[in-house]
Amino acid sequence: MAMLREYSQAAQAVQGPVPGARGSRDTGLKLEGAEPIVRMENIRKTFHQGGREVVALDGINLEVKRGEIFGIIGLSGAGKSTLVRCVNLLERPDSGTVWVDGLEVSNLTEQELRRQRRKIGMIFQHFNLLASRTALANVAFPLEIAGVPRKQREERARQLLELVGLGGRERSYPSQLSGGQKQRVGIARALASEPKLLLCDEPTSALDPQTTRSILRLLAEINQRLGLTILLITHEMAVIKEICDRVAVIENGRILESGSVLEVFTQPQAATTQAFVSSATSAEIPPDILERPANGHGAQVLVRVTFLGRDAGEPHLSRMVRRFDVDANILYGQIDHIGRTPYGTLVVEVTGSQDAVEAALGHLAQGGLQVEVLRRVERNDVATAG
Ligand SMILES: Nc1ncnc2c1ncn2[C@@H]1O[C@H](COP(=O)(O)OP(=O)(O)OP(=O)(O)O)[C@@H](O)[C@H]1O
Ligand SMILES: [Mg+2]
Repeated sequence: MAMLREYSQAAQAVQGPVPGARGSRDTGLKLEGAEPIVRMENIRKTFHQGGREVVALDGINLEVKRGEIFGIIGLSGAGKSTLVRCVNLLERPDSGTVWVDGLEVSNLTEQELRRQRRKIGMIFQHFNLLASRTALANVAFPLEIAGVPRKQREERARQLLELVGLGGRERSYPSQLSGGQKQRVGIARALASEPKLLLCDEPTSALDPQTTRSILRLLAEINQRLGLTILLITHEMAVIKEICDRVAVIENGRILESGSVLEVFTQPQAATTQAFVSSATSAEIPPDILERPANGHGAQVLVRVTFLGRDAGEPHLSRMVRRFDVDANILYGQIDHIGRTPYGTLVVEVTGSQDAVEAALGHLAQGGLQVEVLRRVERNDVATAG
């Protein structure tokens, strides 16, 4: 029984292989406006359980561009797994249309579907490896099903294990490998059929933070080197921040918002998105800073200034101080990265006459920085003191 389950899980992961080598791959360029590799239109999926209807997907519209790493983030039960399973049609939507690589897949016959699935690899949170097979035999499994001769498939599996950093571990069984190594085998197996699209269902949720980072780095490298499009689902914004180009936030089977990771990080709209973002940016300001007593020189405004990329805060601040006759006291700061883009936060106390402070803050905002007032103290008595 356990064996049977093991094989059916592994078979899910395998999805129909393609024997032998294929021609040249995409270049890996993330072309704006290119035809999307995945398109979902108005997807609805319900499950029936004990007389109750569960709406897992409630009108999903989504496009994944060729060559990008697209992330879908949501809490448990949001519909993430159902969504990716509707891409390779492990689940059939009740209604709506799914296109993969230019072909409408939602109305294919089983046989056509099997052929189409060869273009799609998949990896899982719990790896779904065959415990009774070595790493090499796990990776060779899809090729074996496709009837690739032993020598050829073992050679290919060896190359793939090398690619994922497991050269020399061909003979290890899953029980002899760490979680990160098992996921590397899972990735190598998913690549065996030379897919155009890799679906990742919480690929790092069972791993510690350091191993998570190394697996994400491997996925990013595969995306770059092979031009492989990756559709990844997760409940961790840190994962999105680390490797995704674009992201969609899903809740109760609906997409709340989507956009470039940079956009969503810097201007999250929905409350759920804001919670995800703050969990990943550790933008919590120490409370003692927020509660500092006012020390009274005219207006005293505590602001959070956010800057992106090369748009560093310092020149803006020193220019503001010179030009507007205000003081700027930096109380707190941190720099983080979204992909390769630096993303910084400064908490600054700006003091001066009320007019000068307002003009200075307006100047910062005009300079393209995001300025958020955290606290404002106005002391009428000081207007005359200076
Ligand atoms: N086979 C099924 N039968 C009945 N209900 C299901 C089935 N699969 C999913 N559901 C329900 O559909 C909803 C979405 O489930 P899904 O597995 O897609 O969520 P998820 O976002 O992947 O969650 P998690 O982060 O916990 O994996 C949930 O309410 C779930 O209980
Ligand atoms: Mg899931």
